[in-house]
Amino acid sequence: MEEQIDWSSLSFGYRKTDYNVRCTFENGKWGELRVSDSEEVTMHMAATCLHYGQAGFEGMKAFRGKDGKIRVFRMDENAKRLQSTCNGILMAPLPDGLFEEAVKKVVKLNERWVPPYESGASLYIRPVLFGTGAQVGVHPADKYEFIVFVMPVGPYFKDGFKATPCCILRHYDRAAPYGTGRWKVGGNYAASLVPGTKAHEMGYSAVLYLDARSKKFIDEAGPANFFGIEGNKYVTPDSESILPSITNKSLMQIARDLGMEVEQRPMPEEELSKLDEAAMCGTAAVVAPIYKVDDLDENKTYQILPDAKPGPVCTKLYETLRAIQYGDLEDKHGWVYVFE
Ligand SMILES: Cc1ncc(COP(=O)(O)O)c(C=O)c1O
Repeated sequence: MEEQIDWSSLSFGYRKTDYNVRCTFENGKWGELRVSDSEEVTMHMAATCLHYGQAGFEGMKAFRGKDGKIRVFRMDENAKRLQSTCNGILMAPLPDGLFEEAVKKVVKLNERWVPPYESGASLYIRPVLFGTGAQVGVHPADKYEFIVFVMPVGPYFKDGFKATPCCILRHYDRAAPYGTGRWKVGGNYAASLVPGTKAHEMGYSAVLYLDARSKKFIDEAGPANFFGIEGNKYVTPDSESILPSITNKSLMQIARDLGMEVEQRPMPEEELSKLDEAAMCGTAAVVAPIYKVDDLDENKTYQILPDAKPGPVCTKLYETLRAIQYGDLEDKHGWVYVFE
């Protein structure tokens, strides 16, 4: 029975779809991919993911084009990042190609959940890998589960593309300089819940984290990377503790394609006062412009835009990347996997 769904009003939240795909690592090797219609996981109560945070995940999207075809954006990059997360917290890495095979399979199996082009919605893909083997001492597990599930999500900008405010909260860090910030580890997100909730309660869309060591340089913005526009330059922080965003990497390339200069380097907080535009970037929003940053503990405001109207460069970058993802613009860098 087909449900009637108002795709464009969907929020970013869990929604049951038809199938997920799973794979188990035990006895020293990964098994075969399985298809499941269960939303549950059964595991040992001493599983390392529950006690010692051996859990990592990924996030990516599939889009339906005007031609009705489904496209997945840069899944090879997500596969590489998950490998790096596995190596970072000593989880069993996936064999080559398994990530992509799982993503293709789960999208195909849930094809009816990929929203239509006109809705501006997409299918969010959530791979997760975690230790299920029992350990009471602090050791890596000997058993792991890899699951990929999907759900339709609505467009991020429901009332049109617009800028929001961010805040700096100096008494919270998301990740330490040589900690796990550069990997997509569950615990990083646990660390961000208190500051993130505080920021939302005060009307900010995200916390702009400074580097934990010196509190002088910009790290990233909640669950997104940060970039600024200075004249014809795209500037984004280089830091040990930020997650390498695939959206940011793509935007840097698009900026170069548009004839801009790209700099990835430590970005002092004060540079906020020089920016013509600034934004957060990530899978969820692509580009989410920022109109001001309040440094709450220092009682300082960096006004970047006069109001919530995004600047021309962020708008161009946003529109270009979205057009590539939906198949409206030529995919000249080979970023898109098209289901034929
Ligand atoms: C901490 C953090 N930074 C940045 C990003 C953006 O990364 P991507 O562009 O690969 O979605 C995300 C979301 O995935 C994130 O959780």
